[in-house]
Amino acid sequence: MSVPKSEYLSNVWAPGIFAGRVLFITGGAGTICSAQTRALVHLGADACIIGRNVAKTEAAAKEIATARPGARVLGLGGVDVRSFDSLKAAADRCAKELGAIDFVVAGAAGNFVAPIAGLSPNAFRTVIEIDTLGTFNTLKATIPYLLESAKRNPNPNPSGLTGGRFLSVSATFHYTGMPLQAHVSAAKAAVDALMGSTALEYGPLGITANSVSPGAIEGTEGMERLASSLVTSSADRGKEVPSGRWGTVRDIADATVYLFSDAGNYVNGTTLIVDGAGWRRQGAG
Ligand code: HXC
Repeated sequence: MSVPKSEYLSNVWAPGIFAGRVLFITGGAGTICSAQTRALVHLGADACIIGRNVAKTEAAAKEIATARPGARVLGLGGVDVRSFDSLKAAADRCAKELGAIDFVVAGAAGNFVAPIAGLSPNAFRTVIEIDTLGTFNTLKATIPYLLESAKRNPNPNPSGLTGGRFLSVSATFHYTGMPLQAHVSAAKAAVDALMGSTALEYGPLGITANSVSPGAIEGTEGMERLASSLVTSSADRGKEVPSGRWGTVRDIADATVYLFSDAGNYVNGTTLIVDGAGWRRQGAG
């Protein structure tokens, strides 16, 4: 069943702005990433969704393709972002089948709720490897294609859209520290740092590299787990956020569209925090 557009994208964007563009996204079957993908596909892009679980990835691709008649959405399952070789093979296949890679979202993440005392070295390493090494592997595997895209679609481009955009899905925990999320905080701090260095090295070649940092987003697997350990009553959800509510996947999809659109072409090496100012009050536990 297709998801109503209003659930994943606001009404302010012009139809077809991403026509002819190809998105490569890891973690694309997840709640946030599938909303990002649907939004870009709805606005004209084709997409290749990468995931570990074959059935889940293929089902997500099929559902997301309903966002626009004629959309080409490829679901490539069985790919673990911890393996550079399998990501490289996926990027090569995406470019071969869909013709290019213009936009990349590194969204695959690992998360569980655990105190430092409950984290084994292997537990800590696992999250660092999925989030940080996985983002690096995604960057390494796709950068040749992003360079080609940037050459075809220079920044600025008088005709509108530019190419060669890399976006990591980060978090806000490392700004303050977060109980039960030491492993994720460390991993995402490194992801943000990687985006800064990528912007410096590849900005002159026409590529932008940024993070988007969601706050508490309702309906996500990670937040449901964390909230059940931090928020006692469902009536309290969102009250702690200065904007008065938890975010929605649409908030993150809209931010992604902005960053990949011509309107975002001078935004580079930074983090767009989409959290209703929640991070300013977080961290005390
Ligand atoms: C303590 C844990 C644990 C837990 C696993 N481990 N769960 N330690 N508390 N709850 C430990 C294991 O005991 C093991 O250490 C090590 O972590 C690796 O576990 P595996 O199960 O072998 O790893 P793997 O199969 O690779 O799975 C990775 C995973 C898993 C991260 C543990 O949860 C996963 O695949 N997650 C992907 C989906 C996901 O998490 N999505 C949510 C993302 S949300 P030992 O020492 O025993 O070998 C997100 C946003 C965050 O990231 C914002 C909101 C919170």
